[in-house]
Amino acid sequence: MAVPDGLIERMTLREKIGQLTMASVDLVISGPVADTDVERGVREGRIGSLFNLFGRPAVRAAQRVAVEETRLGVPLFFGFDVIHGFRTIFPIPLAEACAFDPALWEATARIAAVEAAAEGVDLTFAPMIDVSRDPRWGRIAEGPGEDPLVGVRLAAAKVRGYRGGGPTAAVAVTAKHFVAYGASVAGRDYAPVDISERTLAEVYLPPFHAAIVAGAEAVMPAFTDVEGTPMTAHHGLLTEVLRGRWGFRGVIISDYKAIAELMLHGVAADLAEAAALALNAGVDIDMMGFAYERGLPAAVERGLVGVADIDAAVARVLDLKDRLGLFEDPYLRSGPADAVPPAMATRHRAVARAAAGRSLVVLRNAGGLLPYAVPAERLAVIGPLADAPAAMLGPWSGAGRVEEAVGVLGGLRAAWPASAIEVVRGVPVEGGDAQDIAAAVAAARRSDRVILCLGEAAWMSGEAASRARIDLPGRQAELAAAVLAIGAPVTVLLFSGRPIAMPDVFDRAVAVVACWLPGTEAGHAVADLLTGRIGPSARLAVTWPRHVGQVPIHYAARAGGRPEDPADRYTSKYLDLPNTPQFAFGHGLAYGPIRLDAPWATVRGDAVDVVADVANEGDRLETVTVFLFVRDLVARVARPILELRDFKQIALPAGAHVTVTFRLARTAFGYLGDDLAPTVEPGEFLVHVGLSADPADLRTTRLRID
Ligand code: NOJ
Repeated sequence: MAVPDGLIERMTLREKIGQLTMASVDLVISGPVADTDVERGVREGRIGSLFNLFGRPAVRAAQRVAVEETRLGVPLFFGFDVIHGFRTIFPIPLAEACAFDPALWEATARIAAVEAAAEGVDLTFAPMIDVSRDPRWGRIAEGPGEDPLVGVRLAAAKVRGYRGGGPTAAVAVTAKHFVAYGASVAGRDYAPVDISERTLAEVYLPPFHAAIVAGAEAVMPAFTDVEGTPMTAHHGLLTEVLRGRWGFRGVIISDYKAIAELMLHGVAADLAEAAALALNAGVDIDMMGFAYERGLPAAVERGLVGVADIDAAVARVLDLKDRLGLFEDPYLRSGPADAVPPAMATRHRAVARAAAGRSLVVLRNAGGLLPYAVPAERLAVIGPLADAPAAMLGPWSGAGRVEEAVGVLGGLRAAWPASAIEVVRGVPVEGGDAQDIAAAVAAARRSDRVILCLGEAAWMSGEAASRARIDLPGRQAELAAAVLAIGAPVTVLLFSGRPIAMPDVFDRAVAVVACWLPGTEAGHAVADLLTGRIGPSARLAVTWPRHVGQVPIHYAARAGGRPEDPADRYTSKYLDLPNTPQFAFGHGLAYGPIRLDAPWATVRGDAVDVVADVANEGDRLETVTVFLFVRDLVARVARPILELRDFKQIALPAGAHVTVTFRLARTAFGYLGDDLAPTVEPGEFLVHVGLSADPADLRTTRLRID
């Protein structure tokens, strides 16, 4: 069954606007709460879709009102933020990005979709594919990190994953937040964006294009403006680029209250103007704010909006409902009335454990402290994140349940059942007194192994969670200093939604693992890594600064006319800090030595083959990611010193030598030239392969492209 014939023609203006209005049910709070009688709104045909509601009985009940009690019986659709899992929570997206594995990215999205669809969710507000180079921005946790190619591959994999199951095991996706939200000035959430057209085209747009090509049904504009035009009113980017140039046929859903906020931006004098700006820019659905309900009728009366444009938006919404199968069966994803929703499947937990394990980045491991060959007799697990299952779920934890999450302590107890484990929190995550730092130190002294669990609580990253300081919150640095001062070989497990600047800890801890916020199976995954059950395969998808003053920092900078020279004052550098980051993009240690040789590059017609040998010189299986960067040495527009053009992950058994082959299209040596049209300028290029973007890790050859 398709959209019933003549449905739009039978609608009153109010009913049309209802189809364009989405309301939150506040089962979950994800924005400013409004005092809305949602049930009445649905019954009166004033609300066409709901979000923040899940669970079969609740979804069914709401759908019943729409289908049976409204004049036209148009079904609702149900949206939800399924960002890194629904009930089974996977690592935060930034962590998963560090796995550099599209198959994994797809697999976790597929499970999230299966669980969400089984509980009545039709559409997710994901994937979040905002490239960001600013760890002050809390939402860096939700996205792919700093690199556009990683963003492109992650976007495509996530879209495939969410959409790929059958009708009752898939959800429609919303690529968000279009576009350049990750470049909010000073890393402050919701702040303006000023960005060149080139950077927009080269860095921020490509993941969205990939999501559209992969079949994303919806797009959400960012809260922010770009050069003074709020994205919610950006005709150029929404209609000309997204719908026009890219041929996007889906639905554009505003962010929470963003249409009404056009007045606060200072581009609309009242709700009628705000509604007209958004609708005329291409925004179909008003998420909260009720700006369309309150503003569109007046906008029509004043001639600011044509009814034909409203009809076109309604048609897109009805088409989405049709694609979701809701005209055929409005209860498709809310099951029969008596159906019991599935419990969390064992397989889902197993994938969550593997995904978390594959997101843990070993930043430091002096003298090969890790993995621990044998269990400790007396183990001290210290710090505010030592036993913190709620923090492990991270921001946007969907329908995840704290009681199902495994913290570090739980994981270590299961892995080392015979060890005597002493747990001392020391200090809280934030604020607080020095509490029992002394007790923590005493416990460390009494133990033959010390694991220090530091970092951020779940609410300290994600939306509205920017930090001007990106160091350890509260008094954790004091705790770390006191414990590290005893001189024992301490392993620091760092839990956070962003890179944390803590140079002293990096100097003094023997081993440091960036665990991010690993999800439901956090503790088991961490134990897997510490015991060597798995090796460390994750690499940083984001450059790790030494200090917040280096931000924004990323590997793909341009050299400038005065590149850093320690011997020359008048070059581009700081007086008080090196330019180099604490850890480069791509950094992450294996448990054994890996050797990567210089590549060969050969032009073959319209392609270039790059071949490099990589060897595992250690005695255990390692999973290694080889990055391929190019540098265009001379072009009319200065190019970055490194641009990632491909990456490949390979499993290397102990002692194995493998030849990795990359095939690059000629366009990989190009850039956006005049009018931002793709162009390749003949000339000399450097082709690097590397285990990270750190110059010391790069192996290089020169290549001429004619
Ligand atoms: C605001 C956030 O910016 C967006 O990502 C989210 O999808 C909506 N709220 C709905 O919760």
